[in-house]
Amino acid sequence: MRTIAITGSASGIGLATRNALEAEGARVIGIDLKDSDVKADLSTKAGREGALQDTLASCNGQLDGFVACAGISGIGNPGSLTVAINYFGAVELLEGLQPALAKGTDASAVAISSNSVTTMPNIPDVLIDALLNGDEAAAAEIADKHTGHAYAGSKLALARWVRRSATGENWIQAGITLNAVAPGRTSTPFDDAMMKNEQIRPHLEAYPIPKGRLGQADEIGKFIAYLLGPNARFFCGSLLYIDGGSDALMRADEWPATLRV
Ligand SMILES: NC(=O)c1ccc[n+]([C@@H]2O[C@H](COP(=O)([O-])OP(=O)(O)OC[C@H]3O[C@@H](n4cnc5c(N)ncnc54)[C@H](O)[C@@H]3O)[C@@H](O)[C@H]2O)c1
Repeated sequence: MRTIAITGSASGIGLATRNALEAEGARVIGIDLKDSDVKADLSTKAGREGALQDTLASCNGQLDGFVACAGISGIGNPGSLTVAINYFGAVELLEGLQPALAKGTDASAVAISSNSVTTMPNIPDVLIDALLNGDEAAAAEIADKHTGHAYAGSKLALARWVRRSATGENWIQAGITLNAVAPGRTSTPFDDAMMKNEQIRPHLEAYPIPKGRLGQADEIGKFIAYLLGPNARFFCGSLLYIDGGSDALMRADEWPATLRV
């Protein structure tokens, strides 16, 4: 039986992923603030360390998969909290669980990014650089100055961390595939809460989705389960959009782009 750990397993996309994996017969170790096997607050260093300790104890130091899904939208929260959960809460668990994944069978990891990485304009480089440098105190200070970009910045840095890491010795060279998924607007408590915000709702309503509807948590969860499964062993360092066409609509000619040498 495969054992797979998921952060953010209590709600939305994480819960849908849990359900899809359990339907396939996997054992899931859910990590969340509540309603989970491992209770942890991933916004703090101590919470992340506790999550790692309890997850490693629960899987006896051996995992076949991991999904870093926990996240907040950043609306109404300081930028520092958004990047603490969305970036450091993902990267520190990916790094801390890597040795257990290296002992698993055909192991894989998936980080949940967002299509906001390319559809939200003008994310400041200074924020991305600070996150990728891994200095949480410095990144927190910068994120608080750019609160409106903290969410998209956290998700862009996470996607770039995945692409930088996936091809290296700790991941594909250790037999572990690592990829990122970029959902578009998806119907979950996360989106419901943003729609209740009077200032944000008009922007969300104007946001173009060629498919004409929001994504459903189940269709994202089933895709993540596929990425963790036996038929997805050749994906490595991919950022996979699943967004009803928003990204393609907004920058059709900007990607793919030729390699400049
Ligand atoms: N719903 C969307 O429109 C959408 C779009 C793109 C990306 N995403 C991303 O998908 C992921 C899942 O989002 P969702 O829509 O399922 O949201 P959700 O709010 O339904 O679920 C998020 C889960 O993360 C957990 N979480 C939040 N803060 C935490 C903390 N400090 N420590 C531990 N757990 C914590 C919550 O308790 C919750 O169970 C997020 O990373 C989000 O950024 C969502």
